[in-house]
Amino acid sequence: MSQAASPTEINPLRQALPRTRVPQPCALVLFGATGDLAHRKLVPALFQLARGGNLPSDYAIVGFARRDWTDAELRAEYEKTLAKDTGGSEFSAVWAQFANRLAFVPGTFDDPAAYQRLKQTLESLDRTHGTSGNRVYYLAVAPEFFATIIDHLGQAGLIDPWQQESPWSRVVIEKPFGRDLHSARALNREVSRVLDESQVYRIDHYLGKETVQNILALRFGNTIFEPVWDRRYIHSVQVTVAEEVGMAGGRGAYYDTAGALRDMVQNHMMQLLCLVAMEPPVDLSADAVRNEKVKVLQALPQWRPDDVVQNVVRAQYTAGSIQGAEVPGYLQEKGVSPQSRTDTFVAIRLELHTWRWAGVPFFLRTGKRLPKRATEIAVQFRRPPTQLFEPEMDGQSGVNQLVLRIQPNEGASLAFEAKIPGSRRRLQEVRMDFRYGTAFAVPPPEAYERLLLDVMLGDQSLFTRTDEVESAWRFITSILDAWQRPEAPPPVTYVAGSWGPEAADALITADGARWRRL
Ligand code: BG6
Repeated sequence: MSQAASPTEINPLRQALPRTRVPQPCALVLFGATGDLAHRKLVPALFQLARGGNLPSDYAIVGFARRDWTDAELRAEYEKTLAKDTGGSEFSAVWAQFANRLAFVPGTFDDPAAYQRLKQTLESLDRTHGTSGNRVYYLAVAPEFFATIIDHLGQAGLIDPWQQESPWSRVVIEKPFGRDLHSARALNREVSRVLDESQVYRIDHYLGKETVQNILALRFGNTIFEPVWDRRYIHSVQVTVAEEVGMAGGRGAYYDTAGALRDMVQNHMMQLLCLVAMEPPVDLSADAVRNEKVKVLQALPQWRPDDVVQNVVRAQYTAGSIQGAEVPGYLQEKGVSPQSRTDTFVAIRLELHTWRWAGVPFFLRTGKRLPKRATEIAVQFRRPPTQLFEPEMDGQSGVNQLVLRIQPNEGASLAFEAKIPGSRRRLQEVRMDFRYGTAFAVPPPEAYERLLLDVMLGDQSLFTRTDEVESAWRFITSILDAWQRPEAPPPVTYVAGSWGPEAADALITADGARWRRL
């Protein structure tokens, strides 16, 4: 299940999604309604959608979880969650309407009787709340329950694969979608026994981020970038997803079974790579975009264990300090095995075997307990063919870089050379900068709002398809397999609060590049 560092704020100034697309009436069933993701992300996102008038005129939200709650208890709980971040008279008015749409069905995920109770509740909501038989089932639960729930939904007649038009049923599946290629395939088989691919919405919340969607806008909505977007002009591409957080919120036990490669690279970073490297789609329909993304994943290298040693650095943090505060090492975190070899940092150098990208290195790095939270993509262009000007002091002249800041300080900047005023022909790097906050006056909407709305609208563009997930796992599994071998070197260490191990620097300097200090 997705966990993010910061709590959701319901900021009245935040940009509401434009009210141009309002979904058909429907009921949304939240499996795991009492859990962390529901409280931190999903319920605030639904409330914000209600507040912006983006939910259908007739809707209902049904919580399904093991706790023996009543409708009233669910309402009281969600009111507490939402009132923490917002308040005032406007809150009360929206809340009153929202609360009236909430219902709760207690049950365990493997109890057929509970699904029958759910069915009765949904049918009764169709009559009282006009939800028209349309359903969204959101699986905000631990991954071991995905197949069980889908199977029971099918058996209880809550999903009909042949009813795709109206009334429709759709299932949203949180990450992690499998632990390796084998388990992802097995899960896809289970899912496809009950659901048609057009009913499956696999979440990668990075795709809901406005700045991530803007990658395609920047590339294909302008004429100035795309002509230089290939091996002839681009020297290398760096993708960084840095996090300050460690194992906060009792995540150690889960994380120790996952690690950075599974938790961040297989999904979020592979998606960023796809958007930077894909060919232009014929249009922006879900399948046109996903077809192009799959081609990038299919062009990932096929590595043998030796290649993994050469091209991947895995590391674990030791005790250190972040922003002046002492923090423990990974092996001392609660829920983590003292002998753990789990990766909390990964750096990868890879090349894509395509016409556009042959020979261009892509460097990916992600880690917990790095000095700050920052996600960005830096595209470094080649130097001019001859050097007419005096080099900069650090010898870096001519290194043009386009940096897409995914978060925070969402925006983009282009670094280029300008002549320092005076009689010498010496250059200095200067920047053109675009900031979302300044350009659009309000911060972008939360990823989950956009994604929930798209599910209700039946738009799968920002959700991952079976072949996409499996192609990403094929590459990641080759790394995991190499790490499993007895002769595989153990993770190296880095001090919490540093930018990772020295070995990660060595990975990139051989190509005449260096990691950006953010
Ligand atoms: C989640 C990972 O998918 O993404 C977490 O499980 C990570 O470990 C989080 O912290 C990062 O999300 P964001 O939106 O804060 O960058």
